[in-house]
Amino acid sequence: MKLLEDRIREDGVVLPGNVLKVNQFLNHQIDPELMYALGKEFANLYQAEKITKILTIEASGIAPAIMTGLILHVPVLFARKQKSVTMNDNLYTADVYSYTKKTKNKVAVTKNFLHATDRVLIVDDFLANGQAVNGLLDICEQAHAGVVGVGIAIEKSFQAGAQLIRKRGVRLESLARIASFTNNEVHFVGGEDS
Ligand code: G4P
Ligand code: NA
Ligand code: NA
Repeated sequence: MKLLEDRIREDGVVLPGNVLKVNQFLNHQIDPELMYALGKEFANLYQAEKITKILTIEASGIAPAIMTGLILHVPVLFARKQKSVTMNDNLYTADVYSYTKKTKNKVAVTKNFLHATDRVLIVDDFLANGQAVNGLLDICEQAHAGVVGVGIAIEKSFQAGAQLIRKRGVRLESLARIASFTNNEVHFVGGEDS
């Protein structure tokens, strides 16, 4: 998606450790019009799918997710991160390991908000190692909910997440796909310089 790629080129900052800082429009300050454009793109890509619910994870997934839900007129559910989950029969939970932070977190969704009749689109801001999305897929499985696919704003295609999701047989649509950060510059997949 050109609009997002242009914005990444303009305002993204490449940090050591293959991290792209996008605090200007996504992870700290949020550009609502850009988020709305992302939502429209996800809605278009998955328009045939009769989506009943958007599922994301707090915090940074919520902005693109809520715009997608607004356009599709469906609720937006975000999984909560919890350090420890006390036994609770009313929750679906999954373990999410963060390679960047070397921490294991549980994410949880209340059972009342996810059902076997749901057709879910998972939305998130970044796809790196795919552990967050993997956890959300596990939660949908526990609920026997249908997953129509995954919509990602920024995919770091050189990390393991994209392959992991496709290997699970799940459709993945990423609006910006980064091939590398060679020379501290963003090189997009399919770009002249990728
Ligand atoms: P994974 O789910 O793909 O395995 O992600 P990973 O553990 O590698 O990353 C942990 C956190 O860092 C996630 O946010 C993820 O969205 C974010 N992240 C990964 N790569 C980048 C990057 O290049 N730039 C930025 N800005 N973020 C990245 P989180 O900890 O869940 O935090 P939140 O911001 O959603 O609250
Ligand atoms: Na993040
Ligand atoms: Na995120």
